[in-house]
Amino acid sequence: GDYNGAWRPQVHFSPPKDFMNDPNGCFLDANGTWHLYYQYNPTATVAGNQHWGHATSQDLYTWENQQIAIYATPDSQIFSGSAVIDVNNTSGFFPNQTNGVVAIYTLNTATEQTQEIAYSIDGGYTFTPYPENPVLVSEFHSNQFRDPKVIWFEDHWVMVLAYAQDFVIGIFTSPDLKTWTHGSNFTHHGLLGLQYECPNLVAMPVEGSSDIMYVLAISINPGAPLGGSITQYFPGTFNGTHFTPVDNAARIADFGKDNYAGQFFYGIPDTEDQVFIAWASNWEYSQQVPTGQSEGWRSAMSVPRKTRLANVTRTGWDLINSPYDISPIYDSVLASNSSLGNGTVLIDYSSLQSRAIYFQCNLTSIPNNTYSMGTLNFTFSSSYTHESVSGGFFLGGDNPFWVSRRNVLGFGETNPFFTDKFSVGNPINSNGTFMLEGVFDRSILEVFLDGGRNSATMTFFPEGELDTMEVRTGGLNEGVVVSVAVWGLKSTWA
Ligand code: FRU
Repeated sequence: GDYNGAWRPQVHFSPPKDFMNDPNGCFLDANGTWHLYYQYNPTATVAGNQHWGHATSQDLYTWENQQIAIYATPDSQIFSGSAVIDVNNTSGFFPNQTNGVVAIYTLNTATEQTQEIAYSIDGGYTFTPYPENPVLVSEFHSNQFRDPKVIWFEDHWVMVLAYAQDFVIGIFTSPDLKTWTHGSNFTHHGLLGLQYECPNLVAMPVEGSSDIMYVLAISINPGAPLGGSITQYFPGTFNGTHFTPVDNAARIADFGKDNYAGQFFYGIPDTEDQVFIAWASNWEYSQQVPTGQSEGWRSAMSVPRKTRLANVTRTGWDLINSPYDISPIYDSVLASNSSLGNGTVLIDYSSLQSRAIYFQCNLTSIPNNTYSMGTLNFTFSSSYTHESVSGGFFLGGDNPFWVSRRNVLGFGETNPFFTDKFSVGNPINSNGTFMLEGVFDRSILEVFLDGGRNSATMTFFPEGELDTMEVRTGGLNEGVVVSVAVWGLKSTWA
């Protein structure tokens, strides 16, 4: 693949060429290698002809493309699914090894969607389909029955699966990954949109305790509140067959429009922070974005995120998600100011080859001072075209935080679904602090508020390279301290 295009992310995964959508089969192996598979059409820059592409990484930022892992045939496609390590050889595929991998996915044909499995004796690089596939078909031979995600629970395998247009997540159990028994249904919860897709059930550590809870994430598309696709999640408990949410609130995983079909990696102990990665696009425009025509690829993944649950005053259980340790790819410090107050930090990063940046801004206000006012805004702009993407925090009211791709020429001006502003209310912490973290990478910006209480993923395709960063504060009360730290990142594809 050619990763030099002006829009090619340098610290995010994107396919060598052509079209990518959902992350699939994510797992961490016993040697510490991360495996990412993905919905892949290797012959066009639009969806269709779906294979499982494959890449591996030691740090979740530096990826090595591997050969395609599971192939479509002329009359069937390999849709989304998951992978597990069958350490105890429950499947019988792995008599002499503990690192056998089983992929569980949807076979999509013209008339039906069924669940199939394939096994790998070489640690996830090549797969053999199980000769007795399919392992699970719907009673009515539905063509809307897909996206199996499998985990291990105490003494059995558990699969969650979408009956997409019935708004049902089916929960199934199995001793061996080959025979599946229906356990329960989770139906009509939260936002429905027009379909449920890509469910994930995952054990999640609870901040500040040794407890674990469960999270059921459900992607919906089309029909999300912002248009197109979005991911919602439910914190709750799981007993091996039934998931019980703590309440009926629909919680949104990411307040931007480019974070869909995310998947949690298999193979991380339940008591540790889990790791999540999502498709950084939206079905409303993913097949039209201009990278297809000019650079021959479409779609990147989000940065990997570490996740846990926290019980937050006022809003209840929240999934906290922040970038997985990005320090291995730090390049140079571009700015560091620990006492900005009201002022401006201006950075020309045109000589940074990657044009990828990680930044942090911390604001320390007066504890419990509800009268604090002011703004903290940032901008990435082009010195050639004066296009920009920006974001900021308004201290006062419900302390809204916003990001915008409004001032970007080209695609955003012509595609009505590529809406340009996203915001979230972010209650100020009772200790008076606010924290912003961001990863900027040529055509993607991801922001994380207060250590990951809220996050947003936003793509954009400027005509001029964005090469200048500004952080500006204004109107802050006396005594408010702001610190700004900005790092250039190494290109992981160079
Ligand atoms: C979600 C999705 C899945 C399906 C896959 C096909 O983006 O529609 O439901 O398995 O993409 O590529």
